[in-house]
Amino acid sequence: MATVRDVREKAGEEPITMLTAYDAPTAEIVDDAGVDIVLVGDSVGNAVLGYETTVPVSVDDIAHHVGAVSRATEDALVVADMPFLSFGIDERDSLENAGRMLKEEGAQAIKLECGPHTVELTETMVQLGIPVMAHLGLTPQHVNQYGGYPRQGTDQAAAERMLELALAHEEAGAFALVLEHVPSNVAAGITEALEIPTIGIGAGPDCDGQVLVFDDAVGISEWTPSFSKQFGNVRAEMESAVDDYVTAVESGEFPADEHSHEASDLEDIY
Ligand code: KIV
Repeated sequence: MATVRDVREKAGEEPITMLTAYDAPTAEIVDDAGVDIVLVGDSVGNAVLGYETTVPVSVDDIAHHVGAVSRATEDALVVADMPFLSFGIDERDSLENAGRMLKEEGAQAIKLECGPHTVELTETMVQLGIPVMAHLGLTPQHVNQYGGYPRQGTDQAAAERMLELALAHEEAGAFALVLEHVPSNVAAGITEALEIPTIGIGAGPDCDGQVLVFDDAVGISEWTPSFSKQFGNVRAEMESAVDDYVTAVESGEFPADEHSHEASDLEDIY
């Protein structure tokens, strides 16, 4: 089982791979492929639960999916993404919600969408033994404040604020930093300034690692952001299999003899 220390040690040495997963079969596929980190993202809200944003995702939702992913993962580090308002209001609730992912669901770390309000919280969590992955740049839980999903850190002042926050979270003990939808040169500068690894999504090639949403990467999602890439067309495969099933049942081709079993001594039951 990978540890946060393994991830930290890869910074600047070897590219770090991270993908989301929300269920056991997906986690098995991701883990078997040698991915370093499996993130049970709150993107489960859009990808799986049918919500338009991640805002409605609950602690129970994440816990349920973290349990499934942890049970199926042998080697990768499992990180639980803390959902909107599950942290940052009350310290005790924040710690209990995050602690539950480790104590009850088998995650090894949690991720927080960060701002100035998460620096002290990160420090407390780390002191208590809850490893924290920080997340800066576009933080989708702020969708109602942004009014969409705009690129972040696009002017000097914003880029400097992001760097300061990145350094503050490193100082507070975060073991890695996700940078989402920020200009490549800003991500490169932050990566250069930090000792902990940066993991980019829409943040260019100079981060220490990359992360994508599983459904986007394999081509299940109907829409993917411009910074993502579909490495397969799993949706088309699924559609074709379901069409074939419907056709086979409607035509009487399925179930065939080999899918049916007859017990000879039950001939006279009716
Ligand atoms: O929820 C998620 O999937 C994420 C990644 C995009 C980093 O936060």
